[in-house]
Amino acid sequence: MHDFVYHNTAKIIFGKNAMEKIGKEAALYGKTMLVLGGGSVRENGVFDKTVASLKENGVEYCQLWGVKPNPDISKVREGVQMARNEGVSLILAVGGGSVIDTAKAIAAGVPYEGDPWDFYGSAKAPEYALPVGVVLTIPAAGSESSMSSVISNEETKEKLSCTAECFLPRFAVMDPQNTYTLPAYQTACGASDMLSHLMERYFVTTECCDLTDRLIEGAAQTVIEFASKAIADPENYDVRAELMWTGCIAHCDILDRGRGEGGRGGDWASHQLEHQLSAFYDIAHGAGLSIIFPAWLKFVSGKDASKPAQFGRRVFGITGLSDKKTAEKMIENLEDFYRSLSLPVRLSEVGIGDENFGEMAKRALAAKNGKIGSYVRLTERNIKKIYTLAE
Ligand code: NZQ
Ligand code: ZN
Repeated sequence: MHDFVYHNTAKIIFGKNAMEKIGKEAALYGKTMLVLGGGSVRENGVFDKTVASLKENGVEYCQLWGVKPNPDISKVREGVQMARNEGVSLILAVGGGSVIDTAKAIAAGVPYEGDPWDFYGSAKAPEYALPVGVVLTIPAAGSESSMSSVISNEETKEKLSCTAECFLPRFAVMDPQNTYTLPAYQTACGASDMLSHLMERYFVTTECCDLTDRLIEGAAQTVIEFASKAIADPENYDVRAELMWTGCIAHCDILDRGRGEGGRGGDWASHQLEHQLSAFYDIAHGAGLSIIFPAWLKFVSGKDASKPAQFGRRVFGITGLSDKKTAEKMIENLEDFYRSLSLPVRLSEVGIGDENFGEMAKRALAAKNGKIGSYVRLTERNIKKIYTLAE
């Protein structure tokens, strides 16, 4: 196990009475800017509850609506102007990963003189940001307790991430009841994303990380068990609670500590390859991952089947087969899981052809300075091969 530091500022306020506590947390900072998506929070009452709690605690606020899934930098720029004009001290995201990532980008953009897009895909991570709070409505991206923000640029067809300590939210309010209104497809996409965050961290070559291996395996089994239950019974509190907590645990970085150089480890190639799909085709992140992850596993199992086989034995209970055969069976089981949630597992199922494989491979590598993958380091040719395996 490698040396590591673990530090996470996100205070998690979880449960049926969590919404009442928003105002008290926000009051610690002052005037608040709410960042919101396309309207689901108005329909399901989350917006009204948030505002009621702010008013009860005397917190002034302004509102920025209209963040779309795969959020665009133009909304960030609009938010930076609003936050400056209104003189806010807290950016409060009310929504999912897209809204939270936009809130983080705005928070870093306010004290920065240049364009916030400068931070994305470059080594220039922001050092300062306004405090960010979260009211989470979809368990998926894990942005409520992560250091990352992922933003798209529609003009250049890029989707890039930025990781910075100042992006860590100060608090995240998580009431599983707020996820009852999630459509089955969004519930499934969220499950796919959180399972991917677990698997990305699992596939490392570091030895002696047994505790985190087993925590990841347990969390993965939880996602696999509870995703279909949530779709079958959307208003089951305990089922929604299991998924919501797992989504947060999967991406709060505790599961990658000690697993690689610099104290954190993970592969993340599938995410890089998926971000190209989202950038070129505006596909939901979780649906892109259910296509890419099996293809990536097929490719890397050809080089080293040991870790996929361990995952297959421990998570899916596969016995009596060689590493190679166990890995193959594990990938079949994973695809069956995605299919059971009506998620796509091939590019052809979502109408994507091979027209951009070359450009997407180039851009994926460029976004990470030519270094993608740690379980297996990928070349441009390898990446094209993985897209081909996903056809
Ligand atoms: O637009 P609204 O009204 O908010 O509706 C959303 C949106 O249409 C809807 N929704 C959310 N909560 C709902 C609801 N509908 C009904 N009831 C509710 N309770 O769901 C749709 C998807 O929302 P979005 O925020 O896009 O979903 P998600 O949380 O999956 O976020 C995806 C984004 O996060 C990025 C992805 O790349 C993608 O851009 N990621 C961010 C990460 C991070 N910051 O750490 C890591 C991830 O790997 C990921 O890359
Ligand atoms: Zn993800």
